[in-house]
Amino acid sequence: MRNMNILITAGPTRESIDPVRFISNRSSGKMGYALARAAARHGHAVVLVSGPVSLATPRGVRRVDVITAQSMLEAVRMHWDWCEVLIMAAAVADWRPRNPSPIKLKKARMAPRLELEPTPDILLALAPHKGARLTVGFAAETDHLATEARRKLKAKRLDLLVGNDVSRTDAGFEVDTNQVILLTADGRPVELPLMSKDEVAERILRRVEELWKDSRR
Ligand code: PMT
Repeated sequence: MRNMNILITAGPTRESIDPVRFISNRSSGKMGYALARAAARHGHAVVLVSGPVSLATPRGVRRVDVITAQSMLEAVRMHWDWCEVLIMAAAVADWRPRNPSPIKLKKARMAPRLELEPTPDILLALAPHKGARLTVGFAAETDHLATEARRKLKAKRLDLLVGNDVSRTDAGFEVDTNQVILLTADGRPVELPLMSKDEVAERILRRVEELWKDSRR
């Protein structure tokens, strides 16, 4: 099989409240970085669009650092023509403050009332321009995992959806292990046992390579 150009996103985004405070989430970037490592190990060309994390750049991977959902969208757009596979493992913030303060909000004042607005949905924005690319999304859920995973697979026109039960203490955010289900539009869901994020990444990558081969037949 020929090597692919794979664009991977990882980590959280941060949405400013003021110059010192932000809204974010618990993503450490470990899952996305494990995917980047696996893809590079398989000989693929990898660009990793990373939110703010404290992880070393995997060998052989080109890393692009971003902070906000908007800047992650722009970085993904910038590499869109180049990529043949997009894997969105990032936990993009769903909302951002509508009017972030340009100066630090003073604590002496009353607690600020934050008005939030939705951030751009990267997978949804790019879905109409998918072409022959393979797109892979994650669904991080605390409940109704299977239903939500299937809904996101369809709504975001994904080829593969990785369903992540983030209510477990040994899976999802921050930890070194994960437990996921792999869903495709036509296949049966494949439930993987609890394993290291490196092993999960390897299984996801092998599935992507199979889907890529099938799509070229
Ligand atoms: O980083 P770790 O600590 O290792 O944790 C790993 C993880 C839990 C972050 C990862 O396995 C995971 O589940 N990532 C996706 C988290 C998420 O944002 O899920 P979601 O169900 O809210 O989003 C669904 C999909 O849409 C995701 O692929 C997401 O990247 C994408 N999305 C979400 C919001 C948005 N504005 N734009 C998007 O493209």
